[in-house]
Amino acid sequence: MTDTTPSSLRTGLRTEVRLVSYPKGIPEPSDFTLAEVQLPTLREGQILVRNTFMSVDPSMRIRMNPSPGTGSYLSPYQLNAPLEGWAVAEVLESRHTGFTPGDHITHFKGWRDIDVLDPGSRGYRDPLKVTVDSTTPASSYLNSLGVSGLTAWAGICCLAEVRRGDVVFVSGAAGSVGSLAVQIAKILGATVIASAGSAEKVEYCRTALGADAAFCYRDGPVADLLHEAAPTGVDVYFDNVGGAHLTATLDEMNVGGRIVMCGAISGYSSSDGPPPGPHNLFNITARSLTVRGFLAQIFAHRFDEFRTQMIEWRSRGLILERETIVQGLENAPAAFIDMLSGVNTGKMMVDLR
Ligand SMILES: NC(=O)c1ccc[n+]([C@@H]2O[C@H](COP(=O)([O-])OP(=O)(O)OC[C@H]3O[C@@H](n4cnc5c(N)ncnc54)[C@H](OP(=O)(O)O)[C@@H]3O)[C@@H](O)[C@H]2O)c1
Repeated sequence: MTDTTPSSLRTGLRTEVRLVSYPKGIPEPSDFTLAEVQLPTLREGQILVRNTFMSVDPSMRIRMNPSPGTGSYLSPYQLNAPLEGWAVAEVLESRHTGFTPGDHITHFKGWRDIDVLDPGSRGYRDPLKVTVDSTTPASSYLNSLGVSGLTAWAGICCLAEVRRGDVVFVSGAAGSVGSLAVQIAKILGATVIASAGSAEKVEYCRTALGADAAFCYRDGPVADLLHEAAPTGVDVYFDNVGGAHLTATLDEMNVGGRIVMCGAISGYSSSDGPPPGPHNLFNITARSLTVRGFLAQIFAHRFDEFRTQMIEWRSRGLILERETIVQGLENAPAAFIDMLSGVNTGKMMVDLR
């Protein structure tokens, strides 16, 4: 019979990915290293888990700057220490009454194969039990049923309050949050315009996600491409990108429009300091716009409501979930770098099984 025990369990060593230098611009593979450390002994109240999937997220790039800066909401990663981020795991051993071996959980100790966790006090990033079955693979908890889904739901439903007939523009629309935002806006009856970084992604937004119009932002000035795609203007902008996308959209917003500022990935890997701000912010006044920035975690208290809604949409076949999956912890840095460069369609994640 084949022994499927992870080798780290046999040796008692955990393998983890560490940052060894703060990148300038897009990170290089040499900014990362793999290291092995001794696993601590499992104490009362703790669980031993094996990560099955881990997420690579744009916000991790913000944490790879040595000082927090104005745009950071999580502390910088320490050099020569394990990276962290969302993961799905299987419980292997438990000395906690709330968990048994075989349970699946989400938690925030990604970038490693196995670990000993303290379940804590059910905070936003503490281990949370999830159901994995034939219709709900573990990977969904890093995608539509995880932070990406919560972010898209919160932005489209709770902050922009998208309603039938709205013209909604979603940038980064072929990515994880963006593709879910497009689909949720369509469910609510909006006309959706999408932008993405390649002809294949544009086609994916139109045919698979159901966007009414889509363009590749590399094909010309965003202002021209958006004006052509949204001739009657934009009522809601779900911004994943910032920079030139935000500047261009401010000029296309209709009176009373709503902008939801979810992310600004175009500036995260800037090696020349902060990118210049939009010159046309006065549109917010002149067109009576509402601009809302948000972090998904401020909707943690509505997590059950979000998950119930998403499960219902999924059961009706209204949510297409796509993933770009890279195999093996040793390839996690490459997956992260590729995600920043736009290699992924849907959610970029690493399969650690
Ligand atoms: N507010 C929150 O709580 C929250 C939570 C999660 C994520 N976010 C934000 O949501 C955004 C999307 O995150 P995600 O996890 O769904 O990642 P993602 O969209 O799945 O992956 C990142 C994508 O960004 C695009 N991109 C990279 N550089 C770009 C540039 N200079 N201009 C335009 N697009 C660029 C690439 O696609 P292309 O090929 O299309 O360029 C890439 O595939 C990010 O800004 C992230 O920080 C916010």
